[in-house]
Amino acid sequence: MDEILKQAIIAAGQEHLLRFIDNLSAGELAQFTEELAAIDWAQIPALSAEYVLKRPDIAIPADLAPAEFFPLKPADAAMQKLYCDADAKGVELLKNGKVCCLTVAGGQGTRLGFDGPKGTYPIGPVSDLSLFGYFAGSIARTSEKYGSQIDWYIMTSPINRAATEAFFREKNFFGLPQDSVFFFTQGTMPAFGTDGKLLMSSKNSLALSPDGHGGTLLALRKSGALDKMLAKGVEYISYFQVDNPLVPVADPRFIGLSALENAEMSAIMLSKTNSREKLGNFCVSGGRTMIIEYSDLPDELAEKRNADGSLAFVAGSPAIHVLSVGFVEKLTSGGTLRLPWHRADKKIACLDENGELFTPSEPNGVKLESFIFDALPLAAKVMILEGDRAEVFAPTKNATGVDSAESCRVMITERNARRLQAAGVEIPLTSEGKVDAVIQLAPERVLDEADAAELVKITGLKKILAGQVVAL
Ligand code: UTP
Repeated sequence: MDEILKQAIIAAGQEHLLRFIDNLSAGELAQFTEELAAIDWAQIPALSAEYVLKRPDIAIPADLAPAEFFPLKPADAAMQKLYCDADAKGVELLKNGKVCCLTVAGGQGTRLGFDGPKGTYPIGPVSDLSLFGYFAGSIARTSEKYGSQIDWYIMTSPINRAATEAFFREKNFFGLPQDSVFFFTQGTMPAFGTDGKLLMSSKNSLALSPDGHGGTLLALRKSGALDKMLAKGVEYISYFQVDNPLVPVADPRFIGLSALENAEMSAIMLSKTNSREKLGNFCVSGGRTMIIEYSDLPDELAEKRNADGSLAFVAGSPAIHVLSVGFVEKLTSGGTLRLPWHRADKKIACLDENGELFTPSEPNGVKLESFIFDALPLAAKVMILEGDRAEVFAPTKNATGVDSAESCRVMITERNARRLQAAGVEIPLTSEGKVDAVIQLAPERVLDEADAAELVKITGLKKILAGQVVAL
């Protein structure tokens, strides 16, 4: 191993990483050297001191105020006109190929406990349609609707890239043109033990994990995806997470309003259901928009009320964004971008003192991730638009309970039921007023109420029976 690299590692206080190198084969050593050479060693002591050996201070600015947003329903005639103009602008951008979709799918999905990339998880309430399948169908229908194929960028991690691509091949890209789907890989960060020493996953590898969805921005640049967007004349990126099959993959109003407002980055907000709901809070300080995580918002602010009793900090983030391509280009020019790191205490399988692999039962280390929303304060202009929760947000974080695959499937059925009901179909309800059926509508056929009405016309569907399982 190169002496300069060794010295950098020792100077960073990480000499323990070198303790097995004399016993490695040439191939193992070469692999380990490549991994170690990719680390910015000068940065490690500061990261350890700032984020690992002590808990980072969360500074809440004294002037923190709730962020303003455009309400779901226009407040007056002028806003009504603006929304109409935004719809038209969004449609124009979609028709002219100025919009692409971006799904962040590099996370490890530990809470779901599913073995495989989260996007391959079968979420269909009736069939085994995957999360990726939902987005693919919605992208296909949106492209068809506006007469222009929307490109789809999918961010994976080094851990799930091969499995993700294999899944797309197995599913024949869900019928999408293969040259409209692009995979790119995010960066990684080494995990720290609580003593500030980097953890090893084997004698020739560090315990590395994906560097957070904030890694999207630099990964777009480094992978060449940004150049591809620029070459194709794409101006807006419709960004969403892999765990939300209800997301509108490219919403004309949201995209159009971003454009009309000249926003570099935009966000959908949802009104929080209670003061402690686990959503990041849209705030402003010093004229900059930012998200304060639910766990960091002090009680007095979380509980603060307006005169009418509503929550002052009401705007929660479902992580749905529009980014202008120019903004990503500006942020990452020079090939660097330093977003703040966020600490997560995790159980990390690693080598013990004797070089044996050890699987902890309690958190034994720290992972550092950057978050996409930390780009908000860097944007010259931010636009926030209220979304309709039941229509756009069903996060699949856990297997059961709150924000789970179970609750997501129920929300899919409920949204489908609303759309069919609006088209005149009789929907069975339980005594508690819940939909008493399981309903799946193919996303490549039904994007909205108009599509549902068309489907009802074609199929002649009049009524769904109590307990019926329907897939159309
Ligand atoms: P989450 O914060 O829900 O994390 O990611 P996760 O890794 O999927 O799940 P847990 O916390 O281990 O249970 C939100 C979104 O950001 C993506 C995820 O794939 C998901 O779409 N993400 C997260 C990345 O693309 N890369 C990352 O490094 C982290």
